[in-house]
Amino acid sequence: MNITSSPSEFAPTDVVEDALSEADFNKLAALVQGMTGISLPPSKKTLVQARLAKRLRILRMHSFSAYCKLVSGTDAAALDERPNLISAITTNVTRFYREPHHFEDLKTRVLPPLIERARAGGRVRIWSAGCSTGQEPYCIAMTILEMMPDALRHDIKILATDLDHVVLSTAEKGKYGINLMEGVTDAQKNSFFEVSGNGEDRMYTVRPEPRKLISFKQLNLTGPWPMKGRFDFIFCRNVVIYFEHELEINIFDGFAEKLMPGGYLFVGHSERINTLEVPLFETAGVTTYRKV
Ligand SMILES: C[S@@+](CC[C@H](N)C(=O)[O-])C[C@H]1O[C@@H](n2cnc3c(N)ncnc32)[C@H](O)[C@@H]1O
Repeated sequence: MNITSSPSEFAPTDVVEDALSEADFNKLAALVQGMTGISLPPSKKTLVQARLAKRLRILRMHSFSAYCKLVSGTDAAALDERPNLISAITTNVTRFYREPHHFEDLKTRVLPPLIERARAGGRVRIWSAGCSTGQEPYCIAMTILEMMPDALRHDIKILATDLDHVVLSTAEKGKYGINLMEGVTDAQKNSFFEVSGNGEDRMYTVRPEPRKLISFKQLNLTGPWPMKGRFDFIFCRNVVIYFEHELEINIFDGFAEKLMPGGYLFVGHSERINTLEVPLFETAGVTTYRKV
């Protein structure tokens, strides 16, 4: 915005004039569910309205009904806007070493045999599905490098995917403000991050070593999964919680197919797999499952 312009020049377009109607909410909810699997019950209407209000302001649109018409279309403008709708709706909360017991499990049980395999010339493949702004795959990479400083000389790769293009671009940049560094020890900061700026403006940028272990890709979990090989372990934490049960089961079945025998699946703190519904998994710890 040009700071010499009078605020009144912008005021009218900055105001969203209507509330999100129930009919428009239902249309948007169906569209979002079809595109992402994310289920938006009526109780989420206020949240959706608040999140979309920001988007409307950016587009300088006055009304939710106009926005709803825009994204419901089939023309180029609708297709262009839909990724932004998805980005506005997805919940991207994450942090370094979230649910730390999973990283303890990696150190003590999951990674030692995989590192041995990699040292013997074998391949190790890992998937962080729904990686948001990247903290999860970077923590996996840092855990590997702490155990195997020469990991880059071996065939170890982490695939990190998310549906939302905005969080993926943050993940790829790997640059985090000091307020996001809670959970990262000083030793880890020194080994794996470059520091810039001072005081509250200090920024931490992931160094090349952890970064080189990871490929970031956009992938919708409800669409086809083009990866050919199988994974040794998959993190999919706090993602399927937003899906309906049937879709959740389909995704877990898909993970079981994509895992090596004996491979692990780590899910979020409030997610559980009923192993009667997904018999290819057995319970292997707190929110941890193993492919039978
Ligand atoms: C709450 S974050 C979880 C981040 C990380 N896994 C963690 O636990 O800290 C959920 C992520 O899932 C992504 N997501 C939601 N629906 C998705 C879908 N259908 N396919 C792929 N990613 C999806 C969102 O964009 C969001 O970044």
